[in-house]
Amino acid sequence: MVRLPFLSSTRSVPDAAKVPRHIAIIMDGNGRWARKRLMPRVAGHVKGVESLKEVIRHCLDRGVEYLTVFAFSSENWRRPQEEVSFLMQLFMKSLRAEIERMHRSNIRLRVIGDVERFDKPLIELIEESETLTANNTALNFTVAANYGGRWDIMNAMQKFMADHPGVTTGLTEDALEPYLSMHFGPEPDLFIRTGGETRISNFLLWQLAYSELYFTEKLWPEFGRDALDEAILSYQQRERRFGRTSEQVAAGADSSTDHA
Ligand code: IPE
Ligand code: IPE
Ligand code: MG
Repeated sequence: MVRLPFLSSTRSVPDAAKVPRHIAIIMDGNGRWARKRLMPRVAGHVKGVESLKEVIRHCLDRGVEYLTVFAFSSENWRRPQEEVSFLMQLFMKSLRAEIERMHRSNIRLRVIGDVERFDKPLIELIEESETLTANNTALNFTVAANYGGRWDIMNAMQKFMADHPGVTTGLTEDALEPYLSMHFGPEPDLFIRTGGETRISNFLLWQLAYSELYFTEKLWPEFGRDALDEAILSYQQRERRFGRTSEQVAAGADSSTDHA
């Protein structure tokens, strides 16, 4: 397996003054946005798609390389059946409507998560969309659908074991990383959750180890270009230390000074 140099940002310190290379978002608060307007919850999901389109465009404009959004968690199956099937239809409809435009904008789409559980037409549409955009380079846009951070780690373990039958020792982080669903990109620099809750809800558990966390009360359907800029600005004011001291960071210490 070829090792990509940028795999773990816990080893090389990205410059926080820059625009984050990878932004991961929990798009939360759709239901509450709709309820506040006396509309059915699903109206919030429809409006949420508009926010996502604006955020994708703005990531392109700002030169963000990776955008990963949580669209449906492995726990969201617990919702009322009508809401779940509405979300599936909306995913399909939006993907069908937007994929050509995304392709023309040089966006590469990936879906991470246990998609096998989806209906066949949706699985096929995902595969077609991924194939169509496979050579695009402007933005790596990833949708986490039927995704769970614990599932991701367990899935990686199982794949590793299948590839290395009988191996009982020597499983390292480096050995496991290529099997994780975000193996193709750097870990998120900036994590954003809208909707006021301050939890991870089983999103990218492994990959968020050293991400800068940003929580906002803004509900996802209200989130857009300016709100994203605010989050990026907050990120740019942070000092990322990755276990080192402030002085070391100021002196430009990197992995070569690690004693571990
Ligand atoms: C996030 O909004 C969208 C999904 C989980 C699919 P919610 O539907 O969770 O909205 P709230 O949190 O109930 O307001
Ligand atoms: C997290 O939001 C999942 C998505 C945004 C897809 P939830 O609304 O499902 O999270 P909890 O249940 O409040 O933690
Ligand atoms: Mg929610």
